Amino acid sequence: MEQILDLIGNYVSEAFELAGYDRELGKVTLSNRPDLCEYQCNGAMAGAKRYHKAPILIAQEVAQVLDGCDALESVEAAAPGFLNLKLSAGYLAGYLNGMRTDARFGVPEAEDRKKIIIDYGGANVAKPLHVGHLRSAVIGESVKRILRFLGHDTIGDVHLGDWGLQMGLIITQLKEEQPDLPYFDESYEGEYPAEAPFTISELEQIYPKASKRSKEDEAFRSEALKATEQLQHGNRGCRAIWQHILNVSIADLKKNYDSLDVSFELWKKESDAQPYIPALVDYLKKEGYAHLDQGALVVDVAEESDTKKIPPCMILKSDGASLYNTTDLATIVMRMEKWKPDHIIYVVDKRQDLYFTQVFRCARKAKLVEEGTQLTFLGFGTMNGKDGKPFKTRDGGVMRLENLIADINEEMLRKILENHEADPEEAKETARVVALSAIKYGDLSNQASKDYIFDTDKFTSFEGNTGPYILYTMVRIKSILRRFLEESGKTMEDLGSLQILPSAGASEKSLGLSLTAFAPSVLQAGTELAPHKICGYLYELANQFNRFYHETKILSEPLAAQKESYIALLSLTLGVLGQGIDLLGFSAPERM
Ligand code: ARG
Repeated sequence: MEQILDLIGNYVSEAFELAGYDRELGKVTLSNRPDLCEYQCNGAMAGAKRYHKAPILIAQEVAQVLDGCDALESVEAAAPGFLNLKLSAGYLAGYLNGMRTDARFGVPEAEDRKKIIIDYGGANVAKPLHVGHLRSAVIGESVKRILRFLGHDTIGDVHLGDWGLQMGLIITQLKEEQPDLPYFDESYEGEYPAEAPFTISELEQIYPKASKRSKEDEAFRSEALKATEQLQHGNRGCRAIWQHILNVSIADLKKNYDSLDVSFELWKKESDAQPYIPALVDYLKKEGYAHLDQGALVVDVAEESDTKKIPPCMILKSDGASLYNTTDLATIVMRMEKWKPDHIIYVVDKRQDLYFTQVFRCARKAKLVEEGTQLTFLGFGTMNGKDGKPFKTRDGGVMRLENLIADINEEMLRKILENHEADPEEAKETARVVALSAIKYGDLSNQASKDYIFDTDKFTSFEGNTGPYILYTMVRIKSILRRFLEESGKTMEDLGSLQILPSAGASEKSLGLSLTAFAPSVLQAGTELAPHKICGYLYELANQFNRFYHETKILSEPLAAQKESYIALLSLTLGVLGQGIDLLGFSAPERM
């Protein structure tokens, strides 16, 4: 389907041409002055110099040509040279009926289909997911859904942290607690047990204990460093423990991501990039990209135009150990080799901005990616508590994501039961669905790069710019549709053939216009990797719908064709809201 702005733009361009001007001047945008008009064209101002004519005169000539155009209800030339346009109700209804028969609600599919890897999640094995990982998961999932809907070939990769000192710390702590395990017996040559020597909750206690000790106990720390190195050099026992850690952790992480409705096509880990490191290091040396600096191997990435110092990208430490940098560069090599993406997007805490600048520059300079390969850092801000400080539990500890979700579920259930009587099982499921909308929308409605305050009362409210408000609006529409079907004896399939008639009232027209803005919002969200644009759009649409709803008697409308038109408009609104929340990563219940 063509975009409404392009369609109107065609008429206006035609008119510029007929009036003797360049048709390029006929570009139409949404109005800056909704009190005066719905759309506007500023082409007469742009053309004034070229045609040595007062812009208002050009605008008047074009307006005259447009007079009588079926698509437009009114065209006005306004000082100093604007064209103020209003769409005709008939044309709008035609467009909306077109949207009704389009499974994509008018959103065009990309002509230039790209392969895009989205690196999000970024959880570390052996550590519980905490709220810091929430944003990456929620934003990454939405960005992936938006790009996929726009027709791109998207691959989400969780890129688990499984390779650093944290592994050595766990191995060392385990050795102390259970020294008799066969993994620590260098002479052991048999098969290791298939069962892990710890459960997930035991594992989650081992890491903090070990981490604390390594800060106080020098000997412990050097043991852990040694274990890390042994793991990295393929020591059998260390590898076997690491494999146990992965199995136990990944099962738990999958459960957590599932409960957030977040999924990944790839469950790659930092360790998967390690086999690419030796060849990468050789290549960087041989091609002269890397040089030694105080024993460390580095690649200079500073550029002349830099306004602040960008330190070199370190590839190997002076002891030969690789780093987070090295892993990310090797991961780029792996991704290029296996998937050849056109674009890689990293959804990571914005405090890693400088780090990714170094990595990207190094990848480009050393030609690890092709010239046209896009690398994007989508950095997000911190999720804070009401006190404006990073979100904590009530007693000041690190909040586990699981607990945060459980808290919001509970709050939602309380609200739902307070609202009306409900079957307890159904209410629980509804609470889960609505709670997820509260968490995700609360996050996504803010521009990703900004810090935001996680405010449970606000996020779970059924009023205002919240997920539950959008869902409440959808549930309201669903209930009207259900009643209509009951009363009319029609089926869901019959709804498809109902026609939207030209709008009679102002709120009905505004709702229609708002529906036509779905496609540009999604396109913009895709270009800018900005889910908050979709939130803003859905909020506006829900408001327009509720205004229309409060002003209109829908089911008691006496004229059958008019009632059916309202129902068709409602079902389109529901469809667009539903598609919109799916792009944000949540769904709506039947009632709430
Ligand atoms: N595991 C890292 C962390 O918790 C995030 C990984 C981000 N992605 C990447 N390719 N570096 O900080």
